[in-house]
Amino acid sequence: MPQCGYCQSGQLISAGALLRRNPNPSDGDIDTAMSGNLCRCGTYQRIRAAIHLAARRLRGAS
Ligand code: FES
Repeated sequence: MPQCGYCQSGQLISAGALLRRNPNPSDGDIDTAMSGNLCRCGTYQRIRAAIHLAARRLRGAS
């Protein structure tokens, strides 16, 4: 869940592009892919966790 949501559209587009290229990204892959997106609220840890969760669900894992 976003904090203020200001950065959300860019984060979602970048995360979707990452997961299309790489269905099982590492923390480093995520950090690199998302590095162009600034979040004024500092939710980077939560964004990373959400990308890992989305990747697991897209792979059909729990
Ligand atoms: S959630 Fe506020 S800028 Fe990212």
